[in-house]
Amino acid sequence: MSTLVLGIETSCDDTAAAVIEDGRHALSSIIASQLVHHEFGGVVPELASRAHLDLLGPTVDRALTEARVTLDDVNAIAVTRGPGLLGSLVVGVAYAKALALAADRPLVGVNHIEAHIWAAALDGAEIPAPFVGAALSGGHTEFILAKGFGEYALWGATRDDAAGEAFDKVAKLLGLGFPGGPVIDRLAADGDARAFDFPRAMTESGDYDVSFSGLKTAVRQKIGDRTPPFDPKWLADLCASFQAAVVETLTTKILRLATDTDARAVVVGGGVASNRALRAALAQGCVRLGIPAIFPAPKWCTDNAAMIGLVGSWMLARGEVSGSELEPVANLEEMGFALPALERAL
Ligand code: KG4
Ligand code: ZN
Repeated sequence: MSTLVLGIETSCDDTAAAVIEDGRHALSSIIASQLVHHEFGGVVPELASRAHLDLLGPTVDRALTEARVTLDDVNAIAVTRGPGLLGSLVVGVAYAKALALAADRPLVGVNHIEAHIWAAALDGAEIPAPFVGAALSGGHTEFILAKGFGEYALWGATRDDAAGEAFDKVAKLLGLGFPGGPVIDRLAADGDARAFDFPRAMTESGDYDVSFSGLKTAVRQKIGDRTPPFDPKWLADLCASFQAAVVETLTTKILRLATDTDARAVVVGGGVASNRALRAALAQGCVRLGIPAIFPAPKWCTDNAAMIGLVGSWMLARGEVSGSELEPVANLEEMGFALPALERAL
């Protein structure tokens, strides 16, 4: 008999549900993206929680139907507990609690960042530990050392904007729409990454933190009083040069952390993990270190419920279930994910 876990994800602007079989295989994965945010050039928290309320029921129904199962067949319900937008998390957690109660099934509260760094396992990737897990999305830029499942230490993070947020803000400055990452990725492919010399902040610092706000300011200055439509060559060069600065900043810190901790792999997750230049640069850097660079398929990079179901299944197997006391948590630090000071000093 296989074990089935229903995963639910509502931490940001995607309403998602998935059914995971035996902790690895997605029988279904439904994502209802909330288009309402596009016209604002970013996620509007109040609109997100409202939309989750409308979309979650039908999304869960579709996930069950597509997996050809019913709620009765499911062994547990896993839901994103945090971090994320509190109003959005509340909707998912309340819904999951109600389902668990109605179906008399255990409830598992999942850390969204933990799910991003294990998402590659959905493709069947074997991930050797210890590994450096980088969660790179619109809301997060975290560098984690994973000694195994459930054993994490946070070694570095962004001091200001998240990596995806930097892409989104620059896209907004250029009038390219939201989300910005995919369109900059595409435009950059035809540009010269050396055309503009943008800053790579903190790459010389001895820690594993990054910063993107100076880069964003430099791009704004370069745009100056230009307005769309931009010269296509100039636009492609600007996108390529900006992207190269982000990629070099991230790659420098990730590879340094992997080296300093004798990591056996680098695993990247989150929307930015689908960036082609980042994939190429990390793959090349990891060849030099003699370790694999592991990326999820693009569909598992951005927010999805399959990764929540996957981590939820593994937690279920370890008996890490919660009851009706499960509460959403907005910040990663409050989830017991911070690094002991001792370990940071290694
Ligand atoms: O993981 P995700 O779906 O949601 C969050 O938890 O934020 O990530 C979305 C972020 C957005 O900021 C988007 O611009 C970025 O990931 N992104 C990319 C690419 N695809 C999505 N950034 C760079 N290159 C891409 N190809
Ligand atoms: Zn995410």
